[in-house]
Amino acid sequence: MFPDPARLHIAIQKNGRLADYSQDLLREAGVRVAKGINDLAARAENFPLDLLFVRDDDIPTFVADGVCDFGIVGRNVLDEFALAHPEAGFDVVAALGFGRCTLKIAGLEGGSYDGAESLRGKRIATSYPRILGDFLARAGVAASIVTMNGAVELAPRLGIADFICDIVSTGATLDANGLVARETVYASEAVLVRSRRALTPGMAAFAEQLTGRIDGVLATKESKYIMLNAASESLAEITRILPGADAPTVLPLHGRPGQFAIHAVCQESIFWETLQRLKAAGASAILVVPIEKMMM
Ligand code: PRP
Ligand code: ZN
Repeated sequence: MFPDPARLHIAIQKNGRLADYSQDLLREAGVRVAKGINDLAARAENFPLDLLFVRDDDIPTFVADGVCDFGIVGRNVLDEFALAHPEAGFDVVAALGFGRCTLKIAGLEGGSYDGAESLRGKRIATSYPRILGDFLARAGVAASIVTMNGAVELAPRLGIADFICDIVSTGATLDANGLVARETVYASEAVLVRSRRALTPGMAAFAEQLTGRIDGVLATKESKYIMLNAASESLAEITRILPGADAPTVLPLHGRPGQFAIHAVCQESIFWETLQRLKAAGASAILVVPIEKMMM
């Protein structure tokens, strides 16, 4: 029976920008994936979870239909789907911090461009007709949208369109096709999406475990453990500087009256500049260490 009611299912991209990162994230969440069942699916050994490897464009459908309980997909693909299917039942549960890209409007090098007005009456090729439609409506510009499912970057040279609206990550595809970015429509990254299909209490508990672990992985990426020494008169200023740390631990240093060790989990990145400010405020022996696992 498919889907197996005794297992959770997550749809991830088979090939492409998100594929490796999606598998890495699950691995960091402690999900050990056995050799694939076939090209399309793999089974976790230590968690009741099956992975389905599909085209990113199909992930919203799988999750909305409840074939998969979860999906990892670009916000751009998900929003395009949601605009087309306003009744679809899914929720974005986390932004994952990878697969960052922007949806841009680009035209051929050498062409003239003078703001969004230059798009009026033009043909724009895209795989994101609804997101582009929204952008044009907000800009108050009428243009014709040519929907394509792939190879959008070829459209201007083929004479199918005057502009394209497509995902730009490194910019290599634009460069290779003699295209120049003209407008930024939308910024995207990978998100974890969850179906609204009801689960049995047992499966729901596993789903909570999985999202909790993924939250933990995301939190540790941002967080650092910081240790430093300081005199009592500096404590107030130092705790004020520590980024995103509430309630640091303050311990007296043995044999050094008036001196304390401060330990804190900082929920934000710690930059060299922060360390310099801490030092200027009287901190010494400052150590910043990564956190491997975290559960709040
Ligand atoms: C996008 C876009 C380009 C490429 C741009 O495709 O359609 O082909 O990425 O990346 P670059 O700026 O690094 O060259 P996407 O990864 O979304 O794949 P898909 O449309 O084939 O699913
Ligand atoms: Zn795609």
